[in-house]
Amino acid sequence: MSGIKKTNDQTLRGKYAVITGATSGIGLAAAQELAARGANLGIVARNAAKAREVAVKLQSSSGNSITVDVFIADMSSQRSIRRAANEILAKCPRIDILINNAGAMFLDHKLTEDGLEMTWAVNHIAPFLLTNLLLDRLMMSEHARVITTSSHGHKMAAQGIHFDDLSGRRYFGLLGKMKGGPNFRYGETKLANVLFTAELAQRLKGTNVSAYCFDPGLVATNFNQDNGGWPA
Ligand SMILES: NC(=O)c1ccc[n+]([C@@H]2O[C@H](COP(=O)([O-])OP(=O)(O)OC[C@H]3O[C@@H](n4cnc5c(N)ncnc54)[C@H](OP(=O)(O)O)[C@@H]3O)[C@@H](O)[C@H]2O)c1
Repeated sequence: MSGIKKTNDQTLRGKYAVITGATSGIGLAAAQELAARGANLGIVARNAAKAREVAVKLQSSSGNSITVDVFIADMSSQRSIRRAANEILAKCPRIDILINNAGAMFLDHKLTEDGLEMTWAVNHIAPFLLTNLLLDRLMMSEHARVITTSSHGHKMAAQGIHFDDLSGRRYFGLLGKMKGGPNFRYGETKLANVLFTAELAQRLKGTNVSAYCFDPGLVATNFNQDNGGWPA
C-alpha cells in the first residue's frame, strides 16, 4: 500500500462506503481503490489492530483527504454485527455504498454462538443482516449501492441450497469431506449471495438503492489460510 494511484476520473469524493473484509485480499484492494477515488470509508473488521493499521495507511495514502473509520465486528456473530451496525448508524449520517465482502470457508463443522454453521453465517447471514440493518440509511443517499462479493464457486451448488439441512451436516465428517463437502457448502453460501442480491434488487426497484454481486475470479489472497489452507 505504498501510495495510492488514481486509476480513473470517477470521483467518489464526499461519498461514504462501508466495507467488510477490507483488512486483506479483495476487500483491501477495493478499499484502496475507493480511497483513491476520494470516498470516506468505514472499515468493518474483527481484528482491531489490523484494521487500524489499514485505516492509517489508507488515510495517509489519500494525503489525509478522506476519513477512515473502524468498526469492530466478528461477522460470525449476530450480536457483534448488530453492535457494529448501531455504531455505524450513530457515526455516519450518510452511507452511499455498502460492500459485503468478508468471507471464509470452514473445513470442519463449527457452529457460531447463534447456532449456525460458520461458513453459512459468515458468508450469507452476515451480509443479509448487515444490509437490512443499514438499509434505511442507504435509502437516504441520493444514489446508493449494495455490493456483495460472491464467487464462481456458486456453481458448485448446482442442486441449489439444501434448505432441509441449513446446518450443512451432510458436507462435513469424514465422508462429507472426502466428497469435497466444504467446497460444496461454500458454493451454497455463494449461491445465497446471488439469490439474496437478486431478491434485494427486485425489492428495491424504483428506489435510489441498487444491489449487485460479482465474481472476482480466482485471486491469490489470504483466503482460507486460517481454516486449514484448503483453497476455494
Ligand atoms: N480469493 C478468491 O479467489 C476468491 C474467489 C471468489 C470469491 N472470493 C470471495 O472474496 C471475498 C474476500 O475473500 P479474499 O479472497 O479477499 O480472502 P481474504 O484475503 O482471506 O480476506 C477475507 C476478509 O474477510 C475477513 N473475515 C473473514 N472472516 C471474518 C469474520 N468472521 N469476521 C470479520 N471479518 C472476517 C478477513 O478478516 P481478517 O483479515 O481478520 O482475516 C479478511 O479481511 C470472500 O467473500 C470470498 O468468498 C474470493
